[in-house]
Amino acid sequence: MKILITAGPTREKIDPVRFITNFSSGKMGYSLAAAAVKAGHKVTLVSGPVSIVEPAGLSAFISVESAAEMADTVKRLSLESDVVIMAAAVADYRPVKMELQKIKKHNDDNMHLELEKTEDIIASLGKIKNDNQVLAGFAAETQNLKENALKKLKAKNLDWIIANDVSKKDRGFDSDKNAVTMYSRNGTVIDMPLEDKKELAEKIISIISSK
Ligand code: PMT
Repeated sequence: MKILITAGPTREKIDPVRFITNFSSGKMGYSLAAAAVKAGHKVTLVSGPVSIVEPAGLSAFISVESAAEMADTVKRLSLESDVVIMAAAVADYRPVKMELQKIKKHNDDNMHLELEKTEDIIASLGKIKNDNQVLAGFAAETQNLKENALKKLKAKNLDWIIANDVSKKDRGFDSDKNAVTMYSRNGTVIDMPLEDKKELAEKIISIISSK
């Protein structure tokens, strides 16, 4: 199978030296890519800026920075993918305007930064997907995990949503481990307790690619 996986954060520039981002290390997405290669699939990994090394054996590795770049790349590559898994932590908002020069400190105590929504990439994929493509997203939640994950599954027209609680230090963002619950479009629920992302990734890949 041809599997497209996204990983890492995006960076949304404020000025030439500042940006908005999050704590994604890329470990979850990179582990999924390694597991998919190990299972014999043709894997393309699209990654935001991270400090880990990409897995061996990928068919393609594409490095991107912003949500807009990730959107362009993923929408193009998704057309030729049997499975798309979005583990990237894409920024939901970006500055309306990127200043061309470094912003100077003013005398005012407060400064206002106006933000606008980025494209919801996986929702765009959900609109154009055909019945043969499997589309899986992650739901990163700090509260109402099940409810919020199921909302995303439906609203974005996904086949799987992989819910993770990102309020705890021992899992989720920038941890070697994770615990997830997988919810499918058909009502399947699979609980996966806390374990190393590498082992967890092998189980996730085996389930998602077993269609
Ligand atoms: O990278 P690590 O340090 O290993 O951490 C792993 C992780 C916590 C980042 C990962 O397990 C995870 O949860 N990834 C998804 C993070 C996220 O953005 O979740 P969300 O609930 O905000 O988004 C839901 C889905 O929509 C995700 O599949 C996301 O990739 C996608 N999305 C979000 C925003 C956007 N503008 N476009 C999108 O496609």
